[in-house]
Amino acid sequence: MRGRGDKVLRANAVSFSGIHSQAAFMNFARLRRFIQAMTRAVESQADEPALLAAGQPLLADLITHDDWLPEEFARAHPDKYQQYLLYCDPFERFSLVSFVWGPGQKTPVHDHTVWGMVGVMRGTERCEEYTQSGARLAKAGEHVVTPGSIDLVSPTLGDIHVVSNAEPARVSVSIHCYGANIGAVRRHVFAAETGAASEFVSGYSSRAMPNPWDRSLETA
Ligand SMILES: [Fe+2]
Repeated sequence: MRGRGDKVLRANAVSFSGIHSQAAFMNFARLRRFIQAMTRAVESQADEPALLAAGQPLLADLITHDDWLPEEFARAHPDKYQQYLLYCDPFERFSLVSFVWGPGQKTPVHDHTVWGMVGVMRGTERCEEYTQSGARLAKAGEHVVTPGSIDLVSPTLGDIHVVSNAEPARVSVSIHCYGANIGAVRRHVFAAETGAASEFVSGYSSRAMPNPWDRSLETA
């Protein structure tokens, strides 16, 4: 005889199976190390240059070892680029996000209002930089970002750009670390022709986050 309790047990069994299969193939220790070290950095580094100097090697370790990002956080959408929250500091001093561009996809012209480190892990991305003079925008240049490279943004370093997938037939994935809960920050998109700014809050593409804290299948 099956009652409501049976359904609960089966649901739990599926849930446990899903968590274990994710953990078995992901090097979550690498993600945990980043979270721990970045937390120490935001606690100990008082200014932006020092924090970015401390953070870049940490992000470099993530983007040059492609063994920790679950597939569901690297999944492209057919119509628009995706931004998946991977971790957010409890005090929202930093967040870690995977951005995924399908072929042909690009951001609007936008700013961040906080510091950010952008590291490409898969594929190739193009960054077009803009400068703002009064109400006018001017394109200042562009460059290609390849796997292992890290771009920096901030209001002091240059904060307005467009990012796009530079390859015609391959998904690109980059890992971004920002100095806030970036999906909750009020920032701006700009009309490229007029420079007109509109406020936006990006949110995130998924309500789920990776769980690097289940260590039950790790041997060390
Ligand atoms: Fe950006």
